[in-house]
Amino acid sequence: MKLDAYHFAVIGPGRLGSTLIAALDEAGLTVSAIGTHHEDDAGLGGRFGGGRPGGPGGGSPGGAAGPLHVRVADAALEADAWWLTVPDDDIFAVAGQLAAAGPGRRRSSCPPLAIHSSGARSLRLLRPLQEAGVLTLCLHPLQTFSGDARPDALAGVACAVTADEERVSALGDELAARLGMRPFRLADERKPLYHLSAAVAANLMVALESEAVRLMNEATGRDDGLQLLAPLVSTATANVVGKGPAAALTGPVARGDAATVRAHLRLLARQPARVAEAYRSLSLEALTLAAPRLDDETVRTLKTLLEEGEGR
Ligand SMILES: NC(=O)c1ccc[n+]([C@@H]2O[C@H](COP(=O)([O-])OP(=O)(O)OC[C@H]3O[C@@H](n4cnc5c(N)ncnc54)[C@H](OP(=O)(O)O)[C@@H]3O)[C@@H](O)[C@H]2O)c1
Repeated sequence: MKLDAYHFAVIGPGRLGSTLIAALDEAGLTVSAIGTHHEDDAGLGGRFGGGRPGGPGGGSPGGAAGPLHVRVADAALEADAWWLTVPDDDIFAVAGQLAAAGPGRRRSSCPPLAIHSSGARSLRLLRPLQEAGVLTLCLHPLQTFSGDARPDALAGVACAVTADEERVSALGDELAARLGMRPFRLADERKPLYHLSAAVAANLMVALESEAVRLMNEATGRDDGLQLLAPLVSTATANVVGKGPAAALTGPVARGDAATVRAHLRLLARQPARVAEAYRSLSLEALTLAAPRLDDETVRTLKTLLEEGEGR
């Protein structure tokens, strides 16, 4: 199967979709259509971008060679590879719309292919298309996209590849690599656990930083806690990525400083319960990381303090 022969339609040009349109174009692959669900879209039927060089991200609307803005059903006829970048809850319905419209009717040497990019949800969301004879694939870029659509936004990003046929997985590897990503295989039933890891790594970290900013603003009486914390957050993140969690860990638990932990716990009694719970739970993980560096007595003291506390 030759990637270069495919005509791609990106359905849902939102945060990920707009990035993919730019990246596919940058990689020299053909995006022939952009599928939208807005019947009254001003650009519907018009072409987007001027084709390369400049491409969909750089050209001006109305050029001759850019992808065509079409309704979802029409995208079935304009392409032989459909990349569904609609919200997770809409993937199955959009797959149904494409399947009903008769995918694969474009004169093409490529076996028709459908892709979705949900990290948590199953390949089976594409079942309507699979039943219509379309190859199905999940490609999940392990990155966060906010819609600025830089063509290099996928460079170096790990990409989970899920398919139920080896030839489709191999095509997924090739496509992900062509877009500059680092593909790895992920079994369909592992996707929810994989996505849980990603949510803890990124979303919970953001929530934790939000709590830290609130505490900092309370401590200083100012409103620039984020700016004050920024170098600390950046260095801690760079260290965990560069050295691994155990080597990156600093702070009172890493030093075995029970008096400071005790003082923190006393302060946390006046904070929302969720902050105290997060502090205790995550400090226990920190203690697991630090334990090889601490003496047994210190580990026991900290463990008791964090599990049972004082005044708990
Ligand atoms: N954003 C990320 O960081 C990221 C990372 C990895 C994977 N993903 C995955 O990428 C997919 C898209 O996420 P996103 O964050 O890019 O979402 P998004 O920014 O909300 O974009 C969704 C796009 O789909 C369109 N859309 C919504 N319902 C539709 C329908 N029924 N038919 C056709 N188009 C429809 C939306 O149009 P309107 O806005 O005009 O309604 C919008 O253009 C999801 O599967 C998500 O899990 C996202």
